[in-house]
Amino acid sequence: MIKDLLSDPTTRVILCCGAGGVGKTTTAAAIALQAADQGRKTVVLTIDPARRLAQALGLNELSFEPHAVKAVPNLYAMQLDMKRTFDEIVLAHADADRARTILENPFYISLSSSFAGTQEYMAMEKLGQLLASQEWDLIVVDTPPSRSALDFLDAPARLGSFLDGRLIKFLTTPAKAGGWAITRILNTGIQLFASTISKILGGQILTDISAFVSALDSVFGGFRKRADETYQLLKAPGSAFIVVAVPERDPIREAEFFIDRLNSEGMPLAGVIVNRVSPSLAPITISESKELQKSASPELNSALDLHIENVRAKTNEERLIKTIKAPALLRIEDADGEISDIAGLRSIDLAGKSL
Ligand SMILES: Nc1ncnc2c1ncn2[C@@H]1O[C@H](COP(=O)(O)OP(=O)(O)O)[C@@H](O)[C@H]1O
Ligand SMILES: [Mg+2]
Repeated sequence: MIKDLLSDPTTRVILCCGAGGVGKTTTAAAIALQAADQGRKTVVLTIDPARRLAQALGLNELSFEPHAVKAVPNLYAMQLDMKRTFDEIVLAHADADRARTILENPFYISLSSSFAGTQEYMAMEKLGQLLASQEWDLIVVDTPPSRSALDFLDAPARLGSFLDGRLIKFLTTPAKAGGWAITRILNTGIQLFASTISKILGGQILTDISAFVSALDSVFGGFRKRADETYQLLKAPGSAFIVVAVPERDPIREAEFFIDRLNSEGMPLAGVIVNRVSPSLAPITISESKELQKSASPELNSALDLHIENVRAKTNEERLIKTIKAPALLRIEDADGEISDIAGLRSIDLAGKSL
């Protein structure tokens, strides 16, 4: 049960994954809040929280480090800013001159803010930092609003393969050999490639290219190693993945992919939370409703029509939920309106009905 998981002192990291809009951020905040209520010093790493939830957690555009949530003892919140996290790492791992060269480089700027998977990668990096600080009883990670939930698991490998890729190899080789061989390259006729690079890097940077590339190499080499280490940590006892889904076909299918992937990678899957299930209905079957309609007033008749519709939808929902193959399930009912304050997060019953 999710409640037992978060109160277990050996649980150190909980990651909420799932398709976009299913309630990852809400669930992560609710889990963190309820762990803090039990006295565990907890930090929730949120990503793109809805505005009102961000307000409730006291998050603003400067909350890139854990800070205490005023109304809740033991609860700390922060949000991820990938460019800033990237910059911090460059600053921490390169000397001042090199760092400046990298930070001002247009290629770096576009890499740090738009490269697909960067945000997932940064979440992994930040998680590594939070773990290393040894300050937290529990770290709850909300994963980025990915195109696919799988991006989060793929990020370290993808960043690695990007860095191992042609462009980086091309850039790194001359730097390692002790100089940038741009004229030779132009002469050998790879002009299109060279002009692409100069477009990406900007003409001016070509003069600093050796410094840039070797700095990039040293810094990103460290990146890859740390991403791998964090990835390995996530497999260790103490980590738990929770897959969040809503009872609709596509999110459930995406949850299935994620469950398979976690299992095949040996990642610890704690369970699935099915969020936004429709509320329970009066125990009147469709045939009973139809029977009642025969002698009902027009108002009752249309109320019963609605009830029949709801029963059908609920039946479909249940059928979908039953297809999920996962070790534990928790259902969270669809609340009236959005869940955007502390009371709303507390009202989510994490010890509630499971399957
Ligand atoms: N059980 C629920 N009942 C009602 N609204 C919900 C519920 N879970 C999430 N929401 C709302 O749905 C929206 C998306 O939730 P969010 O947690 O931001 O999703 P995600 O992080 O997966 O993109 C938010 O406005 C949130 O308040
Ligand atoms: Mg979110």
